[in-house]
Amino acid sequence: MIRPAPHPAPLPAVASGFAADVRAGLTHAPQKELPSKYLYDEVGSALFEVITVLPEYGVTRAEERLLARHAADIVGELSSDVTVAELGSGSGRKTRRILEALCRRQPTSYCPIEISRAALQLCRRELGDIERISIVGYERDYLAGLAEVSRQRADGERLLVLFLGSTIGNFARLAATRFLRDIRAMLKSGDTLLLGTDLVKPVETLLDAYDDPIGATAAFNLNLLARINRELDADFDLDAFEHVARFNPDARSVEMHLRAKRRVEAHVRAAALSVSLEAGETIWTESSHKYHADEIPAIAADAGFECRRQWVEKEWGFAESLLAVK
Ligand code: AVJ
Repeated sequence: MIRPAPHPAPLPAVASGFAADVRAGLTHAPQKELPSKYLYDEVGSALFEVITVLPEYGVTRAEERLLARHAADIVGELSSDVTVAELGSGSGRKTRRILEALCRRQPTSYCPIEISRAALQLCRRELGDIERISIVGYERDYLAGLAEVSRQRADGERLLVLFLGSTIGNFARLAATRFLRDIRAMLKSGDTLLLGTDLVKPVETLLDAYDDPIGATAAFNLNLLARINRELDADFDLDAFEHVARFNPDARSVEMHLRAKRRVEAHVRAAALSVSLEAGETIWTESSHKYHADEIPAIAADAGFECRRQWVEKEWGFAESLLAVK
């Protein structure tokens, strides 16, 4: 016997968070916007890996130098029996030094938390060969994943949360503090958070980093519209858009936008949406906020942490801060 389905099949527009977010963002007035987390599908993650090796984008290399130089020092600050939870593991390349230093002391569990399955696989492949490591990936949002890792730990097991790469820069300032508070709420005394932040630097340096001469960042940005075309049955004409990076001095952030070169009409069928843009109108796709190293302790304190140590890379301008639960 064929039983009726318990619930009517939901419409695609309701079923997918992506469709709902695209609909909300592209109907947002006066500034159309799209959440930057959707830049990282399989193509976007691969393009971001390219960005990290561009001469103009010094962020990743600066952090790799810091972590290579100070891994032993950082690990020396931690209590024994730590489990590592990383928010947004990416490829896992820069995490290697820390994990090696920890695993030299004792067998260590590493829990990458990632919404991108491709990135999780990449990082398992990159780090799986470290001796005495056990890797358990969580394909979840950061906070949901961290809650689960924290809940599952044994008594006496401490957490080291890694939030590297200046991903925190994608949050507006108040939202960044709120996010740190949310992390803090899941931690216990003795837990720590290692936070990577890109630092303020001359505007030309920043604009070159986010608008590189070979167009890798432009492709990374445009892929968001291509992804909407692929996944949401949309018809954006990519030729009608150009990548723009601009510095917002009030927010101290680099903004990426997609600018319509002429009047554009598009349909996003899976979101039941028709959009039109005037010539010159933009869709705001990402902000990367830049920090001064000495404002991190105050932000940390606001979120219930104490900044125990800080390591600064001066060549490019990047800080790693070790925050301890107060
Ligand atoms: C991975 C979010 C840290 O904001 O610098 C790189 C993403 N965007 N180039 C950043 C990005 C354009 C990157 N984060």
